[in-house]
Amino acid sequence: MKKLPVRIFVTGFMASGKTTLAAELSKKLNIKMADLDAEIEKYAGKSIPEIFREDGESTFRKWEKERLINLCESFEGVIALGGGALQNQELTEFVKKKGVLINIDVPLEIVLKRIADDGNRPVIFQKNGKIKPKEALFDELKSLYFQRLKYYRQAHINIDSSEFTSLNDMAGAAIRKLKDYG
Ligand code: S3P
Repeated sequence: MKKLPVRIFVTGFMASGKTTLAAELSKKLNIKMADLDAEIEKYAGKSIPEIFREDGESTFRKWEKERLINLCESFEGVIALGGGALQNQELTEFVKKKGVLINIDVPLEIVLKRIADDGNRPVIFQKNGKIKPKEALFDELKSLYFQRLKYYRQAHINIDSSEFTSLNDMAGAAIRKLKDYG
């Protein structure tokens, strides 16, 4: 069997199933897994919605970048990123140098449905803590999705989630592609 890359990053928009795929790859390949959001929560000692509320998004992004760089230097295995972790071109290229980047492509309509009712996602709340009206939320997510697509699309491996009916098949396809990068 060909060797695997030392680091495998999983990217994609919010609610694309990054943590789920990363956990499946970790199990199937018998390698360690890290979750960037969980690392930030551990570092901050609070949940992501709390960080957004109490410290603001710019502080969250600063910690997110720091924790990501830290994982790139100190961790080997599979790493689930947050949907906004590839913050710019420089960071995207840095991540790609440190391992193989997998993107999970999920149609926008599906992620909108998944996100709309999820209270763990800071993006759904207004500054006053109330839930954003659906239409405003959808417009915002749509624009975010297209802004980020340029980074997601630079991944070494693209997984089109609509081609798979099970997690097992999706992970199997990712592993077959990963072997070209060992
Ligand atoms: C965010 C995505 C979240 C989390 C934070 C911000 C984003 O991660 O990092 O709420 O800006 O897309 P998931 O993509 O795992 O939901």
